[in-house]
Order: sequence, then C-alpha cells, then structure tokens
Amino acid sequence: MRELGVYAEVRASDTPAAELAGRKGLILSGGPASVYEEASPKVDAAIFSSGSAALGICYGQQLMAHLLGGSVRPGVKGEYGLAQLEPFGPSALLRDLPAGSQVWMSHRDLVDSPPPGFRVAARTQTCAVAAMEDASRRLYGVQFHPEVVHTHGGMEVLSRFLFDICGCQRDWNPKHRIPLLEQGIRDVAAGRNVFFFVSGGVDSTVACTLCLRALGRERVRGVYVDTGLMREGETGFVRSVFASLGATGFAVEDAGARFLGALAGATDPERKRHIIGEMFVEVQEEILQRGHYLDAQWVLGQGTIYPDTIESGGTANADLIKTHHNRVAGIQRLIAENRIVEPLSAFYKDEVRQVGRELGLPEELLERHPFPGPALAIRCLCSQAGHPVEKTPDGWIVPVHSVGVQGDSRSYRPVLVIEGRDPMALFETATERINRLASINRVIALVGAAVGFDRMSVLPSALSRERLARLRRADAVVRRLSHESGFDRRVWQFPVVLIPLGTAERPDSVVLRPVDSVDGMTAQSVPMDSALLGAITAELLEIDGVCGVFYDLTHKPPATIEWE
Ligand code: XMP
Repeated sequence: MRELGVYAEVRASDTPAAELAGRKGLILSGGPASVYEEASPKVDAAIFSSGSAALGICYGQQLMAHLLGGSVRPGVKGEYGLAQLEPFGPSALLRDLPAGSQVWMSHRDLVDSPPPGFRVAARTQTCAVAAMEDASRRLYGVQFHPEVVHTHGGMEVLSRFLFDICGCQRDWNPKHRIPLLEQGIRDVAAGRNVFFFVSGGVDSTVACTLCLRALGRERVRGVYVDTGLMREGETGFVRSVFASLGATGFAVEDAGARFLGALAGATDPERKRHIIGEMFVEVQEEILQRGHYLDAQWVLGQGTIYPDTIESGGTANADLIKTHHNRVAGIQRLIAENRIVEPLSAFYKDEVRQVGRELGLPEELLERHPFPGPALAIRCLCSQAGHPVEKTPDGWIVPVHSVGVQGDSRSYRPVLVIEGRDPMALFETATERINRLASINRVIALVGAAVGFDRMSVLPSALSRERLARLRRADAVVRRLSHESGFDRRVWQFPVVLIPLGTAERPDSVVLRPVDSVDGMTAQSVPMDSALLGAITAELLEIDGVCGVFYDLTHKPPATIEWE
C-alpha cells in the first residue's frame, strides 16, 4: 500500500473493530491457517459493518466468507501456482483484468459458497470462487494473490481498491516526510538535547542524522560502543560516517578489553550471549551516568523502526534487541518518563533507506547487511574438548554443534560434511540428507582444504584474541571479494563462521553462509559461481591457521542463519 503512495499500518488480527473505526480500508491478508482450526487467526466480524471498505486476500477471503455466513471447504489437493482468471460481470476491483489473466494461487481451502449479499466475481478452472464481492457494502475477496509479481495486473487490483473503492489519495511519500520528521523531533525534544547509542547500522544512523538536522550538532550526542568483537575496519567506518555528518558530539567507547576479558573461557553459545548482554548493560549504564544523560535536559534517541513495534511478528531479532536495551536501568527510566525520540517508528526498512538516501547518506551504509549485536563472538565457535570426525555412508559427521529450528523449537546438533567435485551441485543431496537424518540439522560442502579431510578433527578452542583476529581477516576477505563481484547485492546476509576443525598447525576452518531472506525468519542458502568461490577459497587458505573452507547448503528451517 505504501508503495502505491498510501499510508498503511499492519495491525494484529484480533484488533477490536472499535480501534479500526474510521479507516478508509482494511485488508485481511493471506496466511497458512484454515478457518476451521481452533487457533487460526480471526477478526472481529464487526469490522465488516463499520463502514470501512474491506479486501480479503486468500485466507482473508476465506475468513470473510466464514464470518459472514458463507462456507469454506477444506481443499483436497490445493492449488499452487499459476491459474487463468475468468471474471464475471463488471467489477470495480477487477476491471483491469481481462478474461484469461494470469493470477498466482497458493491455497488448500477454498470458498464453497459466498455469504448472503455477495456475488461470485471470478473463477479459475479449479477454484469456483476466485473472487467475490458485495459492492453495496464495499466488501471484496480474492482467492489469488494480487501482491505477487506472478499475478499480472495485481498492482492494478490493489490500486482500484485503494483509489476507486476506498477513496484514498496518493499522498504518502517518505521523502516528503523529512521536514515533518524534523518538526516532530523538535516537538518531542522540546528544547532538550538528544543522546544516542549508535551501532553503525542503518536505522540508528538515519535516526541520528535526522536529529542532527532537526536540532543542530550542539544538541545531539552519540556514543558507539566498540566491543572488540566487530568486523575489520568497523570503528573507523562508523567514525568516518559521523565525521562526514559534521557530528561533533560523537564518541567511541573502547570497551574491547572488558568484553574479551569477560568472555575468556566461555565456549557455550548462550553463555557467550549472556556475558555480552550483561556487559552491554554495564557499559551503557556507565556511559549514561558519566555523561549525565539522565539529567532533565536529555532525551534518548532510538532507531526503532516499524517492524520492531509490531507486537505479533516483527523481525527475528527485534525482541532480543528490545529486551537487551530495556534491561539498562537508565534506559528503562527514560522510556518510563517518555523521554525518547524515535523518528523512524512508522517506517519499514526500505523506507528508512529511502529517507537515508534523501539525507545524502552513503550507499555503502544504506545497503549494509543486517549484523547481529553479539557480532563475531557468535560466529567464532568454540569446543571444550577435542573430538574426531566420524565417517558414515552419508558423509562425515563433525561434532561441532550448531543451532537449528524445527517446528517452534531450537535444535543443537552436529553438522554433516559432504564432498563432490562441484560443491554447488550438492544442494539437492544436502536437502535429501537433512530430511532423512535426524541426528544433524545442517549440511555443509567441503570446498577446499590444506590437508585431506581425514586428517582433520575438532580441537579444543576458546574465544581467543587470536581466533577472533583470524575470523576478522577471513570475514574481510569474503566481504571484499563478494563486494567487488557484486555477489553481496544478491544476498540478504553473508555470515562467515569460524569452526574449530583442522590440524594442530591449522586449527580452524571457515564456513561461508550466504543467505537470501526477507526478514530473517526463513532463509535460503544462495549458490555462488565457481570463479568467485575459487578466488575466495584460495585467499582464505592463505590465512594463518585456516585449514579448510566449507559452504553451508542448508536453508532455514531446518538450520538457522547464524551457527550459534
Ligand atoms: P537466526 O540465526 O536465528 O538469525 O536464523 C536470524 C537473524 O537474527 C540475527 N541474529 C541476531 N541479532 N542478536 C542480534 O542482534 C543476536 O543474538 C542474534 N542472533 C541472530 C541474525 O544475524 C539474522 O539476521
């Protein structure tokens, strides 16, 4: 909707109709549930008589039919993929779709008979109610997905709904929001100054830039906590971004020794996360106290974006980030006193990037991949003891445990290594093994090694400075080559992971984990062309202590994006 120039918000399905009163239009989205399941998402049926126009898409159409007295039938086989639409009669919604238009379907259940007052507006060969409508009440349903590119004319359907049926205006443009955002910041700050913990990520940098513009450099301060766990050149990069913004109140807190000291000897992933979280709390609290940022003339600036504020859903890491920030007593106090400025809280990530572009921030910053708070610490795997690898008919079982997601729960299992002349030809084999073998949750391909695989084993290893430096170097090599080749633009995130697998002289191996994703909740492993893979592997094997290079072939689920 926002792409079409209309402001829209995502609301939880159980939002009471009273809270939605006065909206020009409501869209009930698709989803994998069945209306007959006990726990499936429902809406307050009163929304259909509140005067707002409504459009149900896929599950949304079924829910509309179910709640208004129509019937929904469980499908036997379902309909997945392309279909040809046969519209009937004049329809304000479907007027741009000629007979035979290609639409994209993905459903099992279907509407059997529309509710009283509705007419069937289209069908396909396998779906008798592909669209239904009650124009007098401005209620519309489509079984197909207008929002996907495979539906030809889908955006026109959405435009008709917004402009012709709901009467919306094309008046939402994030770019035009900048002066309004600045005014909003001045209003909230009300003469006070703004303090930020900046991360070097897109959101906090764009939010901070808006505050600098709105209030001037004298009134905005930012501190970047250098944990010593960051990637190569990160602190310098963040410094240079803030220098180019003319931010005079920007400081780096060098806490590397404290973080590394606290992490000494920790090998368990959750323990590492816990230590890092606690240290963040301690350091941030100190900074707030030392800078007197809890005094009345300060408010806290945050780069919170819209998905962080959606209670049900949001990004995978929103909860984590939120709890970790809210645990700092000083921050809790500022929030409780409503002393926070969150200029981006109505925006999606792509809108934040647009705002950033408009503000003249460098593309290198705006197109950064997401990066986890605990940083390289959770990409540097440790092992308390040494273990041999085990040869099986399906490949080598390596007792380096990594995290996976199966159903709603997390698994923590060894990894399977498979070999082949072309590692990129092994994706299917990987999927077959992961489905068959319950003892593993991840499959990686051997890409290159300094010694034969049978000479490698898992070695006792901790989170040492030396190993972090090794990982930092490997990560820098991968980042440089994938940037030069343009591969980084084809992936959503590209973790580089160090695992304690090798020999006494070369105790570690590097795993490449490029993934494509929309929000981090699910992800696909992305193949790489062999020339780039060859170049990366050759450089990685030149790093002191690196024994092998592997490629993670597993999607999420069953494996997570990060290894820990
Ligand atoms: P997983 O590994 O769960 O990751 O598939 C999904 C997304 O979340 C990020 N991630 C984290 N971000 N703190 C963060 O700020 C964390 O502890 C953390 N763990 C995972 C991960 O990088 C990916 O984008």
